[in-house]
Amino acid sequence: MRTLLADHPLVTHKLTLLRDASTDTATFRILTDELVTLLAYEATREIRAVPAEVTTPVGIALGARLADPKPLIVPVLRAGIGMLDGMTRLLPMASVGFVGMVRDEESLVASTYANRLPARLDGREVFVLDPMLATGGTLVTVVSMLLDRGAAAVTAVCLLAAPEGMARVEAAFPGDNVRVVTGAVDERLNDKGYIVPGLGDAGDRLFGEI
Ligand code: URA
Repeated sequence: MRTLLADHPLVTHKLTLLRDASTDTATFRILTDELVTLLAYEATREIRAVPAEVTTPVGIALGARLADPKPLIVPVLRAGIGMLDGMTRLLPMASVGFVGMVRDEESLVASTYANRLPARLDGREVFVLDPMLATGGTLVTVVSMLLDRGAAAVTAVCLLAAPEGMARVEAAFPGDNVRVVTGAVDERLNDKGYIVPGLGDAGDRLFGEI
């Protein structure tokens, strides 16, 4: 696994507002959307492209177009849904699959309750959206599902990460075909599996407590 820490002042500024316990749900959604678009710029830095000519009003320019097959975006339900618009803004041609994971609050073990992924992903680049890389259990499960289907490369886009989760993903995927792009790596996890100082429960803050 490779890690890219997007330590840009705008990312830090928006993350600081996002962390604030007094930030309301409407503002939290907007900030998440903006942050994801900034992280998406970094996450797509290695996206495959092929040379392409274009006719301008004045001449021929040599540029590039994204290669086929087009990428797949996978938001991890529920909180990853809050990141989808920010990602598709930069990759409108991507298709979107879904994985639903829920964490047992006692054991902290995540289990899969929904799976809408293509049967095969041979040669495809996949972007996984999960705001909080905490224990790493969810991300290890989702990345394994994608690599098992033949994905060429998997990039996880996370707003925040804990060192414990990073280490777990790194141990599971030592190769360079798995990357994590995050806005910050925080201190640690608490005994409930929350990132400290973190921002609380990302799903609750995005969608309200249900
Ligand atoms: N999930 C969250 O929403 N927040 C955390 O701090 C950890 C996991």
